[in-house]
Amino acid sequence: MASFHSPLTRMLVSSDGSTTRLLEAATAGPLSIRVLRQTVAPALHATLQGPAELLGLPADASVVSRYSALLDDQARPVALNHVVAAPAIDAPTDQIIADPSRAIGIALALHQIDHRRQLLACGLADWPSAPGPTPAVVRTYLIWRGRQPLMFIRELFDPARVPAQIHDAPRSRPAGQAVAAPHRRTRERADRSRPTSPSAPDYRLGSSDTERQRLLAQCDLLRPAARALLDRLPLPDGARALDVGCGPLGIMDLLSAAVRPGGQVTGLDTDERMIAWARESVTAGRLANVSLIHGALPSPALGDGLFDLTHCRLLLINNTQPGDLLREMAAVTRPGGWIAAQEFDWASWQCDPPHPAWDRLKTVIAEVFGGDVHIGARLPTLFREAGVARVHMAAHAFYWRPGDRYQTLLLHFAELFAHRITANGTPPDALQALTHALREHLTHPDTVVREALLVQAWGRTAERAPVP
Ligand SMILES: C[S@@+](CC[C@H](N)C(=O)[O-])C[C@H]1O[C@@H](n2cnc3c(N)ncnc32)[C@H](O)[C@@H]1O
Repeated sequence: MASFHSPLTRMLVSSDGSTTRLLEAATAGPLSIRVLRQTVAPALHATLQGPAELLGLPADASVVSRYSALLDDQARPVALNHVVAAPAIDAPTDQIIADPSRAIGIALALHQIDHRRQLLACGLADWPSAPGPTPAVVRTYLIWRGRQPLMFIRELFDPARVPAQIHDAPRSRPAGQAVAAPHRRTRERADRSRPTSPSAPDYRLGSSDTERQRLLAQCDLLRPAARALLDRLPLPDGARALDVGCGPLGIMDLLSAAVRPGGQVTGLDTDERMIAWARESVTAGRLANVSLIHGALPSPALGDGLFDLTHCRLLLINNTQPGDLLREMAAVTRPGGWIAAQEFDWASWQCDPPHPAWDRLKTVIAEVFGGDVHIGARLPTLFREAGVARVHMAAHAFYWRPGDRYQTLLLHFAELFAHRITANGTPPDALQALTHALREHLTHPDTVVREALLVQAWGRTAERAPVP
């Protein structure tokens, strides 16, 4: 949150209390609510689908959708809200949602409903009342009562009252307070002024349903290794953990357990569909301490030094600037906190008996993959360059036989990247011959595939130097 320039904005987006009261204090005047539209609509509607999933409602459910504006004494909008809730939750909650005269936070307090807010995301969106595109602060959260999510709320704030500016340069620190890692002072941080809703994800494997299923199956496969990694990273009570490039689940289920009791997990991904799927995983797994942010690292929604553990898995291998990403991961981690990465190194990805089609396909795919497929081997150096003095390492390997899902992964990649491979100089018929030959070889009962090596690296960011 600390990346919003205005202290008011930072306070508002991280507040756990009534937004109306805070806005009234900030605007020095009473605010009134006007309900603009209230309907009961099928959850299948595009704008309601995500909220309904978060509320744990089935796809064929109906939801109450209420659009309202908080107005100042001259009837100018200060905030625009969208509330989504299941109809007929219980009498007091239904009454609160049906009451057009009160903001939700105030009504909850009035009815003495014990509740808490779970921030899901905050970032920038267009303020509709402005003549041209004008960024405004937006935040989404869930209101829970006990273990039941009561409602989903999206709030958009008038940028004239709630400043939307974000820091775009390294933040200055109080005099005498040393910065944890030297690079933070000397190097330019990457552009953190990007909004948290990037439109063009650069993940080359895409966000198809097939890729979602592949990633979720891979989560299952790699879960024991991830658990072993987390077992090595002692966390303080109430720890905050970040999973960068979380995809449809990443290791957020394990992190959710690792930070209990009292801790919080944030999942960050550039791809909107990945975040929607992650929401489904969070709802299905009842991971109440997990919030999601649609955004890219570096993200203005993340504060410096906020996390006790910042983790990524298979993020660096897909990026052309892995060093920058690791430095950003170190920057959002508190001094002395953990950063951890799990990345493949394709060097060990071989078949036995060997086959020339395997070698050739692996080469042409690596050329268009979009990142360094041997990144796992470079993790110690990259971690040191990111300010981690002592890097710990572990590795995991798998073997596959015909019939195992991952035995033919190279062929799946060849199909996925066919356009890029041919554009890069391999004629289509040559590519077809290669895949045909390899498919035959891989179906032979004696052919064994050794998977790429999963390399894990972890270490602590530098502690603050003692203040003289
Ligand atoms: C291979 S997937 C891995 C997903 C997940 N970590 C896992 O292990 O299943 C990589 C994910 O990183 C996301 N991604 C790529 N660059 C990113 C960035 N700079 N910030 C946040 N997410 C990013 C992609 O959208 C994609 O969902």
